[in-house]
Amino acid sequence: MCGIVGYKGKRQAAAIIIDSLKRLEYRGYDSAGIAIFNGKAIEVHKEKGRIIDLEKVIPDISGTVGIGHTRWATHGRPNKINAHPHTSGDIAVVHNGIIENYQQLKERLSQSGYNFVSETDTEVLAHLINYYHKSDLIEAVLSALKEIKGSYAIAVLCGNELVAARKDSPLIIGLGEGENFVASDIPAILKYTRKVIFLNDLEVAYVDQDRVTFFDTEKREIEKKVNTIEWNLEAAEKSGYEHFMLKEIHEQPRALHDTFAGRIYELEGNIVFDGLKLTESRIKDISRISIIACGTSYNAGFLGKYLFEQLSGIHVDVEIASEFRYAHSSPGSLVIAISQSGETADTLAALREAKSSGCRTLAITNVTGSTITREVESVIYTRSGPEIGVAATKTFISQLAVLYLLALYFGKIRGKISQDRMKRMLVSLKHIPAQITRLLNDKEMIIKFASVFKSSNDFFFIGRTLNYPIALEGALKLKEISYIHAEGYAAGELKHGPLALITQNTPVVAIATKGLTYDKVVNNIKEVKAREAPVLAIADEKDSEIEKYVDSVIRVPTTEEIFSPVLSTVVVQLLSYYIAKARNCPIDQPRNLAKSVTVE
Ligand code: F6R
Repeated sequence: MCGIVGYKGKRQAAAIIIDSLKRLEYRGYDSAGIAIFNGKAIEVHKEKGRIIDLEKVIPDISGTVGIGHTRWATHGRPNKINAHPHTSGDIAVVHNGIIENYQQLKERLSQSGYNFVSETDTEVLAHLINYYHKSDLIEAVLSALKEIKGSYAIAVLCGNELVAARKDSPLIIGLGEGENFVASDIPAILKYTRKVIFLNDLEVAYVDQDRVTFFDTEKREIEKKVNTIEWNLEAAEKSGYEHFMLKEIHEQPRALHDTFAGRIYELEGNIVFDGLKLTESRIKDISRISIIACGTSYNAGFLGKYLFEQLSGIHVDVEIASEFRYAHSSPGSLVIAISQSGETADTLAALREAKSSGCRTLAITNVTGSTITREVESVIYTRSGPEIGVAATKTFISQLAVLYLLALYFGKIRGKISQDRMKRMLVSLKHIPAQITRLLNDKEMIIKFASVFKSSNDFFFIGRTLNYPIALEGALKLKEISYIHAEGYAAGELKHGPLALITQNTPVVAIATKGLTYDKVVNNIKEVKAREAPVLAIADEKDSEIEKYVDSVIRVPTTEEIFSPVLSTVVVQLLSYYIAKARNCPIDQPRNLAKSVTVE
């Protein structure tokens, strides 16, 4: 998620755009830039790093219309050339989103004589608008956008004309007195106006100093409602959510959508990876995979083990990165390092160790240009957008999504998955974001359970097979943000020791979605119920049997067994969040923890 700002009015645009970009900086960006029309031409200034670095290189520019951008890299490294705005002739563009068909468009535009200087998908847009621009900027933007597959929020500057448009990425218009604004997020412009119009998908705005006109894709004018924002700046940064963690949990459908963008072709039964440098014959030759990671990323890797083994028939060892180098194990022929930050020292050390044994390496990370990406052969980005809460949520869901795609992709190449099965599974996978949205709209039961058990000292999360990693993740989330001791256990293992701890004071969260081990999990539930533990089951919405055995049930939408852990994840995240909230814990910054752990 990049930050976009546009301004047209009576004041100097550069100062307002810089100030507005700073309001978005709390999310952490890697580069920034502005384009201002100085009365004769568009001046563009960009810099790697923070807004303050950009400010240092901007001369005194006089101009009352302009656009600005803070970049959070998805295509191409974070550097000055890849920073926005991107230009083509007299057109400058800033963009948030992912253009899925940019390679095809790039080839076509190159053949028409357009010269590409950056590694970004956005540059395609600048050239495409230029290609269509004869005299009417709106028409040029509409024609260009008709060719775009993917998501976008854009602001386009051409002379003193400013146009904005969106599809699947947020964009708002701010209304002032003799000045108007474009922004990707409310905090950017809250200092200047509280009157805001939310652009809907496929709408375009022509922003003038005294008026903003809205159009549909056929250039028919449309009426829009003006909203008054009551939030203060802090609330606006969290989009009105009380904590970043809750906001990020709610961003998961969007994060998954971006993780899938341009990678899933369900009608053809194909998966495409941009950063994967493994040929089909190499994938066929993989004898064993080692996954190395820490914390939440380890839990994602643990689910990855089940996925690769079931879908592609490859044996997987999952290793805690800080232990890997001392375990003297020989790594598999492919080593996958998972790290949302791409900077975790333990994961890097383990990766280097594995590399020195000559294995092929692949990283799954959220941060473009992070250290890990420079040390591996292949990188697959999770594209979750910036995560501020210390507890990983949306990055975890996106890591799972990448692992599903990789395991399916390998499985198809290794002849374990037929074309038909692939198509069916990709259709189910694509439904998951909407199913998460349904879950997020019905949190009442979770909040109720959280308030009843907020004072417990110990919790157990149990699950079998695919649900076991999610039990681990649920316990980790609860520990870190609520400071309650929690254990994630393979449900079948309880009777081998921990059952001694189960009493009426140890609530048990049982992940009991339908599948291979459902009956066994029900037996494990009966074991803990016999010791008087209160049990909350996470169960399939169609399961009418489970309530006979437990105290409370949280239902998740029905999907293929293999994808249900993604839905159960959202429940354990929310449960941890609401328990921590009921205990008044500092949810976004738990004590003793850091977002990126760069020491071993
Ligand atoms: C827990 C959490 C940590 C991280 C771990 C690894 O919510 O965020 O457990 O998962 O420190 O971090 P990355 O993924 O950046 O390598």
